[in-house]
Amino acid sequence: MTNNQTAVGLSKLIERKILVCPHCGQYLAQRGKSLVCGASHSFDVARQGYVNLAAHSHKVPSSKTASAKAVAAKTAATAATAAAAAATAAAAAAAAAAATAATAATAATAATATAAAAEVPSVKVDDAGACYSADFVQARRAAIERGFFEALVSTIAALLKKYCGKGSLSILDAGCGEGSFFDLLAKQLLASGFANPICLGIDLAVPGIRYAASHFRDHAWCVADLARIPCKANSLDVVLNILSPANYLEFSRILKPDGILIKVVPTTSHLCEMRHFLRGETAFSNTRVVEHFGASVKMLELLLVESCVPCGNEGAERLFHMTPLSWHATQAQYQEFVLNPPENLTVSFEILVAQIAKKESPF
Ligand SMILES: C[S@@+](CC[C@H](N)C(=O)[O-])C[C@H]1O[C@@H](n2cnc3c(N)ncnc32)[C@H](O)[C@@H]1O
Ligand SMILES: [Zn+2]
Repeated sequence: MTNNQTAVGLSKLIERKILVCPHCGQYLAQRGKSLVCGASHSFDVARQGYVNLAAHSHKVPSSKTASAKAVAAKTAATAATAAAAAATAAAAAAAAAAATAATAATAATAATATAAAAEVPSVKVDDAGACYSADFVQARRAAIERGFFEALVSTIAALLKKYCGKGSLSILDAGCGEGSFFDLLAKQLLASGFANPICLGIDLAVPGIRYAASHFRDHAWCVADLARIPCKANSLDVVLNILSPANYLEFSRILKPDGILIKVVPTTSHLCEMRHFLRGETAFSNTRVVEHFGASVKMLELLLVESCVPCGNEGAERLFHMTPLSWHATQAQYQEFVLNPPENLTVSFEILVAQIAKKESPF
C-alpha cells in the first residue's frame, strides 16, 4: 500500500467518526498522506498503513513552527536583556532558582495529571519497543499460528455472540501486540455470521503495530497509549484487553453504555512448565489483577480456558522468544530448555467479562 491512500481499516474508523486526536479530542480526517484534526494536529500515515497517535507524535504545522521559533527568539532576546540588566550575581542566582522552581512545579503538575489519567503507568515508547522487539513479534506470531490461542479465540467469539448479537461490532484490542490474535478473532466472527466488524488495534510498541498493519490490512492499527486512547467517547461496542495492562477510566470513556469489556489474564497454571524450569517454582498469582478488575467494573462472568499444547524443540524455542517470562534467562538456560523441552505446555487463561459504569468525559 502507498501512504497516499489511507488504509482500509483507518478509513472505516474515520467514516464512523470513531477516531479522534489524542491531544484535543477532535475528529481526525484524512488530508493527503496525513490524518489531521480541527486544531491542525497532523499525524502521518506510515507506508504500512498505520498511524502513530502516541503523545508527542504529531507535527506542528509549519506556520506554527515559524511563529513558535519567533516567540522563542523573542523570549531569548528578552532574557538576554534582563540578564545584562541584572546588577549582581545574587540577582541572577535568584532568577535561576525561581526558574528551576517553576520548571519543577510544571513537571510535578504534569506528572500528577498523567498519573490521574492512567491507572497503569504509561510505558515509554522506547521501553515498549525494546521489550516487544521484531524477534518477539515473529515468535509470538509463529506460536499463534500453531494454535496456541485457538481455544481462547473461539471462546471469545462465542462470548461476543452471546452478549452482542451478530451486528457490525466496533471492537478495540487495547494492547494488541502484533495483531495476529485480533485478526484470528475477526476471521472467526465473520465465519460465524457476524456482519463485517470494525477492528482497531492499539499498542505502544511500534514493531508490533508495523507488523499488524503490513499483514492485516482490513483492520485499523495505531501506535497509541492506553492512557490516551484515540477514540471518541461512547463509540465502541467491545474492548478486548488480552494479557496487557488496563486503563479502566479510558475503557469506560470509549465504550458505549451497553458496551462489553473482555479481559484475559494468565492463571497460576499458565506455562507452569517453563516457569518451573526458569525459576524453580510454579507460584504465580493473578489475584490482584482480578480483584482490581472486580473493583473497577461490573463483572458479568469469569471463564477458565485451559489447553495442553505439544511443545517439542521448535515450540520451546518459539516460546522462549515470545514470553516475558524468559527475558531474564541466561543463554545456558535457553539452550537447556530448547534441547530438553517439556512434552506439553499448559496454556491457561481466565476470561473476565464486564460492563463498565459510565463516567463523565472531556471528549
Ligand atoms: C504480553 S503483550 C500482549 C499482546 C497481545 N494482546 C497478545 O496477546 O498477543 C502486552 C502488550 O501490551 C502493550 N502495552 C504495554 N503498555 C502499554 C500502554 N501503556 N499502551 C499501549 N500498549 C501497551 C505492550 O507493548 C505489549 O504489546
Ligand atoms: Zn488535535
